[in-house]
Amino acid sequence: MTAKHEIKEFIEKQNKLRTLRFITCGSVDDGKSTLLGRLLYEAQLIFDDQIDNLLKDSKKLGTQGGEIDFALLVDGLAAEREQGITIDVAYRFFTTEKRKFIVADSPGHEQYTRNMVTAASGADLAIILIDARKGVLEQTKRHSFIANLVGIRNIIVAVNKMDLVSHSKDVFTSIISTYKKEVAESLSFDKINFVPVSALLGENITKKSKKLSWANSKPIMELLEDAEVEKEESTTFNLPVQYVSRPNLDFRGFCGSVASGKACIGDQLIVASSNQNATINDIYIGDKKVESCGPNDSITITLDREIDISRGDILSDATSELENSNLFNANIIWFDSSKSLKDRNYLFKIGTKTINGKVIKYKNKIDINSYMKVNSDGLSMNEIGECEVLLDESICFMSYKKVRSLGSFIIIDRNTNLTIGAGVINHPLRRSENIVWEKTDIDLNSRVRLIGRRPKVLWFTGLSGSGKSTISNLVERKLFEDGVLTYILDGDNLRHGLNRDLGFKEGDRIENLRRAGEVAKILHDAGVFVLASFISPFLSDRKIVRSLFHEDDFVEIYIKCDLETLMSRDPKKLYKKALEGDIPNFTGISSPYEEPKNPEILIDTSGIEPNEAVNQILSYLEKK
Ligand code: ADX
Repeated sequence: MTAKHEIKEFIEKQNKLRTLRFITCGSVDDGKSTLLGRLLYEAQLIFDDQIDNLLKDSKKLGTQGGEIDFALLVDGLAAEREQGITIDVAYRFFTTEKRKFIVADSPGHEQYTRNMVTAASGADLAIILIDARKGVLEQTKRHSFIANLVGIRNIIVAVNKMDLVSHSKDVFTSIISTYKKEVAESLSFDKINFVPVSALLGENITKKSKKLSWANSKPIMELLEDAEVEKEESTTFNLPVQYVSRPNLDFRGFCGSVASGKACIGDQLIVASSNQNATINDIYIGDKKVESCGPNDSITITLDREIDISRGDILSDATSELENSNLFNANIIWFDSSKSLKDRNYLFKIGTKTINGKVIKYKNKIDINSYMKVNSDGLSMNEIGECEVLLDESICFMSYKKVRSLGSFIIIDRNTNLTIGAGVINHPLRRSENIVWEKTDIDLNSRVRLIGRRPKVLWFTGLSGSGKSTISNLVERKLFEDGVLTYILDGDNLRHGLNRDLGFKEGDRIENLRRAGEVAKILHDAGVFVLASFISPFLSDRKIVRSLFHEDDFVEIYIKCDLETLMSRDPKKLYKKALEGDIPNFTGISSPYEEPKNPEILIDTSGIEPNEAVNQILSYLEKK
């Protein structure tokens, strides 16, 4: 197959077959890399010079059993990937006579659940590797659960390293019966193939192994070649619009990848968010005009009339089962080392939309060993749980079970921009529909006209004892003397009443500031000039409070003071107690304070008198 046209013919033949996307899951040292290396090698994907190098490296390492250490091949690819560190999942493409494959290789360490989820969410099939000497481990259960959660219905359980247990049938039978009882029974896979293998020796990988003939199972490659590619449960047509193409005034095309269903020229489509409809004029795949399109096709369509459609909208056929809500029940997997918290604001990226939202209720989490649901108030790293998510805006979606790409999301930290979780939507919750905004005739602008002045919110943040209360008190007196109606909201004071049920754990502080922000908003809306002093130690909470106001109305004032000065001042003797261990979670000592990055005003009180600080603030306000 050297001549160019032959290669072309071969590729064209391959293109006609439906590609199988699969992942391999296993703990470190289960032989994941060796298995993958074997599959790639046997599919003859390795070039001769690579084989020479592998042989040399394998000899250096003194590999036993086979001449080539196949793990080196994939680990070499991993190293190549690490240089770029843009993605954590490496996709390998390979072909056999029968089929094209895309295999996603995700690292097996426990902290890399994120990579496995990323890899699994696009996969049709998962190979779950079990070390014959170790049997079913917690990781096996976790990986199987995740594969099931992200909708993989077809799995191969490969019991590897059979050569190290003397190709024992008993070992294999005992592992599969444990897997069936402790894993498969609780999950909902449609098809499970159990295969005893030795990836190292190439037994039952592409060729049937004589030593394992008692198992009567097909080799892995054959199972992969024959595996059915799953279809989405829903047959309604859905096209999430990724891009509106407008090369000239006469052409307006909507581009995206078909999430589910089929559509033909002449079909009527609806924009899910606005209910406007139009008929399909043309369908293009690439630059070729086609009559119809189906799942996973990347298409551009044109419509018979101008309707409002933008990126993120979903075009559906008339019988669409799309939901439109800002509240839903979901299963979440948490990746971050800090625990997820109720009511903390995160960004939820669903399709092409990114919206602020939060988990308002944790219903339970899964004990990965027993698959039992246990109580939960938040998720730690690698935990999976069921919860209720409330978004700031409504979105169109479908349950993950019906269409995977329309019912999944990732959760992003607002400050670090890191992906800290992922989730699948189970069903919408209707509660949000029963509460609506009552519109009133008199608003802030009317009140501003009445009092002749637009109020502001001064938000003082800083460590305890830094001078927030002293300074805000002095500023209030000056403003009051000038005839401004003011009000001080003080952390300590609110904790005597409205917030008396809250302590100082992270979750309590989030709620403390949520309430403080809401009260500040009401007072400000009533026309009152608000001075709020709260330690407010977390960037994300301050960001949320800021987002409640018009940018001209909110002034963040960071009252900075170094710890040494604070400890020498210590009027309430709190630092002394905290250092002696009598106050848990004390900000600055045993709980963090995240400094504001761009406060409107920064005052360092270790060097100046309170009056000077007051002048700085007043002159800022005068300038505005
Ligand atoms: S915040 O972190 O939630 O914004 P807030 O401003 O309401 O805190 O309350 C801080 C005040 O509570 C401090 O000035 C101090 O007097 C008191 N306090 C008691 N325990 C703690 C603690 N563990 N950490 C910080 N402040 C505490």
